[in-house]
Amino acid sequence: MGGSSDEPLVLGIETSCDETGVGIVRGRTLLADAVASSVEEHARFGGVVPEVASRAHLEAMVPTIERACETAGVRLADVDAVAVTHGPGLAGTLLVGVASAKALAWGLGKPLYGVNHLAAHVAVDQLEHGPLPEPCLALLVSGGHSSLLRVTDVTATGGVDPLGATIDDAAGEAFDKVARLLGLPFPGGPHIDRAAREGDGVAIDFPRGLSSRRDLERHRFDFSFSGLKTAVARWVEARERSGEPVPVADVAASFQEAVCDVLVRKALDAAASEGVEDLLIGGGVAANSRLRALAVERAERLGVRVRVPRPGLCTDNGAMVAALGAEMVARGRTPSSLDLPADSSLPVTEVLAG
Ligand code: KG4
Ligand code: ZN
Repeated sequence: MGGSSDEPLVLGIETSCDETGVGIVRGRTLLADAVASSVEEHARFGGVVPEVASRAHLEAMVPTIERACETAGVRLADVDAVAVTHGPGLAGTLLVGVASAKALAWGLGKPLYGVNHLAAHVAVDQLEHGPLPEPCLALLVSGGHSSLLRVTDVTATGGVDPLGATIDDAAGEAFDKVARLLGLPFPGGPHIDRAAREGDGVAIDFPRGLSSRRDLERHRFDFSFSGLKTAVARWVEARERSGEPVPVADVAASFQEAVCDVLVRKALDAAASEGVEDLLIGGGVAANSRLRALAVERAERLGVRVRVPRPGLCTDNGAMVAALGAEMVARGRTPSSLDLPADSSLPVTEVLAG
């Protein structure tokens, strides 16, 4: 197994939504990333049902921990610290992860680190591309969040500074809603990504949210995707009324282009304005092939370096929590206390619970 044995062995637990993730890292080396997803149980509802997800975590937790240990070739007793997402996320699902992590840490007599889900989406990149450049700019785009962050220390409260965020739908939410409109399965992001490859991104000129000169004055680094979603709905309805077939690939490609264009433009504008030369993209939507390509292409012209973890590390997983936990151990952060709460609306600025 990789990693030298004097580096801390950290087990991370992620249950903020519908993925039961258990990751094991040694320092910055990934040893195991076991994920059990309840996504199929939610598909017929078109979105995650919190109660169903919580019950699924309860059933999957111990088997997923066992699978992670087996893959990593370690015993629980070898673990030096336990990290867990304690927010933001769904209250009931977070409770399962936090309770499990406390039981483990207490039983093993090892420190517990209650970490922020968004900071973990940033820290995971270290497992693939080495130490995080700090400061860096992080564009986090997922089903629940779209934020631009200035990261000076991913392990310390005060080290993650929000520059902007969505004022309505998250980017992933927009992908999921537009996919539903086009008759594609949930979660829609990967299906739109695939359909768009056969389509033309400039076929339909969909609106770019918060990009007018007036909007930029107040919302330079904020995002809005609900107007775009409505524009796509109107366009599809008009097509259906006319009796003509809906060109799914072109709608998917043009919608995707509108989202990626705004995300990349604002992220690079923030990088220039902050004088930061490294842009990290994380969260489920960072798995999008067009977003990755467009970011790399435009950033290169501006001399900005782009880091995007591989798709499996972008969507929710336990390795990201373990990665952030290991970094906290390495930087000597104080562990969380065992009365750690689950906080569904934890602000992005609070990266480690006291
Ligand atoms: O980070 P994540 O796994 O969970 C949250 O914390 O929300 O993100 C899930 C979101 C979903 O909305 C899904 O549709 C989107 O990420 N997603 C994608 C792609 N893969 C996942 N969106 C666009 N393109 C993709 N390839
Ligand atoms: Zn996430």
